[in-house]
Amino acid sequence: MDRSDYEALDAGAVLAALDGFAGAFSLVLLKECDSTNSRLLAELPPDDGRVHVLAADVQTSGRGRRGRAWKSWPGASLTFSALWRFAPDAPVPAGLSLVAGLAVARALEELGVEGVQLKWPNDVLVHGRKLAGILVELTPGRGRVPAAVVGIGINLQLPPDADVEYATGVTDLAACLGQAPDASRLLGLVLVQLHRLFEVYAAAGFSALRGAWQQRNAFANLPVNILGEAEALAGTCAGVDDDGALLLQTPGGLRRVLSGEVSLRLA
Ligand code: BTN
Repeated sequence: MDRSDYEALDAGAVLAALDGFAGAFSLVLLKECDSTNSRLLAELPPDDGRVHVLAADVQTSGRGRRGRAWKSWPGASLTFSALWRFAPDAPVPAGLSLVAGLAVARALEELGVEGVQLKWPNDVLVHGRKLAGILVELTPGRGRVPAAVVGIGINLQLPPDADVEYATGVTDLAACLGQAPDASRLLGLVLVQLHRLFEVYAAAGFSALRGAWQQRNAFANLPVNILGEAEALAGTCAGVDDDGALLLQTPGGLRRVLSGEVSLRLA
């Protein structure tokens, strides 16, 4: 497929979609970059009270969770990272990555995407197929102010021969909506939702957003396997707790899971 005609991200269109939130963001749009997460972490922008966003039309070394690669082709996905700073001495931001997933889900719903689900900790699925991935990386930031780089990749229109992991379980917005939406508008919509939800989160913690996350839980009450750092677990997905930990009902009782890869357990 020739995607040399893809539309590059456009600052004016992003600002228009940001609506009343434009002043809250600083926006840098690049044609190409290794990884927007790596770049923001390497060159932390000044703390001027704004949320610094770096987006790239194409990443040459995009990174996913657990050391995986996030591949990109021109026009295939929206890829960006936003640097969020928290109050000095704020507690470790538990549940933050789940909030980012919820923000993406809401923006997609605003665009008319149906069947949006969240897979713990922060994949966004549509009818069971992965549409977006999120990589949150914490940094101590300057001084004592903690910061989080929230990196988001959303599939717009993957090449038919895309060699992506989980090839059978991936989807894109062109398939969900009949055509890929304008990437700049989508970026603006996601940033607005991130801003709204991170404000709630900063004021009240993840518990205030837990219900909204659970409504979209892809594996609610289903049998799942968890491939953890240390041990594999099997049980029934019982939602998430106020810290964003996954709750797993096992024969030995309720377990809190803090990291790992969840998959459906087939009978
Ligand atoms: C995953 O599904 O494993 C997470 C994928 C995260 C990809 C995004 S794309 C923008 C940002 N820059 C990166 O290198 N990774 C994240």
